[in-house]
Amino acid sequence: MRFHISPERELHKRDPMLYGHFLEHFHRQVYGGVFDPGSPLADEDGFRKDVLEALRKIQTPIIRWPGGCFVSSYNWKKGVGPNRQPVFDKAWRVEDPNTFGTDEFIKLCRKLNCEPYICTNAGTGTAEEMSDWVEYCNLETEGEYARMRIANGFREPHKVRYWSIGNENYGHWEIGAKGTLEWARLAAESTKMIQHVDPTTSLTAAALVDLDWNISLLRSCAQRLDWISIHAYWDAIHHTNDLAPYGRCMSYTAETETAIRRVRGLLTAMGLENRIRIAFDEWNLRGWYHPNIHTAYQGRTKEEYLYPRDDNDRNSSYTMADAVFSACFLNTLLRNADIVGMANFAPMVNTRGGIFTYPEGIVLRTTYHVFDMYVNLMGDTLLDCWAQDVEPYVTPGLEGEVVVDMVDCAATRDSRTGAIAIACVNKHETDAKEIALHLPVRGCVTVTSLIGESADDYNDIGRDHVHPVCNSSAIIEQTDDMLRLRLPAHSVSVVQIQ
Ligand code: AHR
Repeated sequence: MRFHISPERELHKRDPMLYGHFLEHFHRQVYGGVFDPGSPLADEDGFRKDVLEALRKIQTPIIRWPGGCFVSSYNWKKGVGPNRQPVFDKAWRVEDPNTFGTDEFIKLCRKLNCEPYICTNAGTGTAEEMSDWVEYCNLETEGEYARMRIANGFREPHKVRYWSIGNENYGHWEIGAKGTLEWARLAAESTKMIQHVDPTTSLTAAALVDLDWNISLLRSCAQRLDWISIHAYWDAIHHTNDLAPYGRCMSYTAETETAIRRVRGLLTAMGLENRIRIAFDEWNLRGWYHPNIHTAYQGRTKEEYLYPRDDNDRNSSYTMADAVFSACFLNTLLRNADIVGMANFAPMVNTRGGIFTYPEGIVLRTTYHVFDMYVNLMGDTLLDCWAQDVEPYVTPGLEGEVVVDMVDCAATRDSRTGAIAIACVNKHETDAKEIALHLPVRGCVTVTSLIGESADDYNDIGRDHVHPVCNSSAIIEQTDDMLRLRLPAHSVSVVQIQ
């Protein structure tokens, strides 16, 4: 298998927001996750210092909050000010302490030096409520909501630039689900009111890979949209927690390209491809386990719909399948970074996030290390990289065999240092694979790999099996214009040429 890389052919720069995250009021993502005022590991504002440190290490660029399904019946006004009352979250059918609201979210983003991205309530909410939220966050002093923010102790505006109109309002599971035309009208009115409040906002709206929905949405307010949002979870374990085996997870690795191509095609057909970018603002190999909540059967007891969510905390279910899939996903985004400008790993902490918290510390799951490698080792500029003689990988898809490329590579340059970095992913479950990278090789070559002892390897409390290691033995041969490598089975490697 050969990959030809042309350092002189720069394709495009990637937006750092491709490495974004998503934080929802679900299970232990907020309370007991990033925000745990009662913890001895919390700072003066109640945030877990170990979680903050881990998020800083992967240079978290943007966080989307507060949902997700949660937001579609969330009243933001009850989540600010000194007199917070617990609220019943009708989406996830639990009481939300309501001690984490807009101002706490902004504090979190300031501590991480990252962009806040607020998803508004387009379920039970109105255009007025959405634009009131923008008043609260972004107006200096005008009007009751800016004055409310100042009275709450925040003299300066929060300057929230990124806003979404709604979350998955196309889905029957969403509170306040909408029809196509109804959605177009609400999006048109909401974007209009929001931009009457703050015309500098960068707006997106809930969408999916569906022509009717997207054409109707874009016809109604494309002029006020900078993004179109799509979500994807491939292994739909929401109701069963029946994890797809490694091979089936690999069968999904070509689907990201298909989804992007279809949305890109529509934007191009409507002449919007240079003005509206794609925000993949919820993605993960596997869905979150929350049985008997969105389905026809709503669950009658907490044993049926609430307590099973704790199974999301089973760290042994976060394996090299998650890491290898996520690296393939990020490679696809990098190749399409001319039109994909944001992506948010769903979620950031606990549930199926890269960081797991427990009272005494955190576990860095396999996907966390993929972000660490891509953020800290890959460059910001995509180089032309074309594959030759790539071995097909016949994988057991959901409905029969699916053939995908055995190895996936993406090549970058760091525009500051000139260093070249190539992410090389070997998808095979058991076999190492040899590849040749054809490019000028001048300088020091290092290989960092995420391997694991098996495809099912994972990290847990007191078990740190999977983390990036220096893997110089991967280099079999090096000439002035070629690197021959041996990629371990089920592995993610970044080859750096300084
Ligand atoms: O399973 C979690 C849900 O997935 C999020 O709340 C929603 O946005 C998506 O459907």
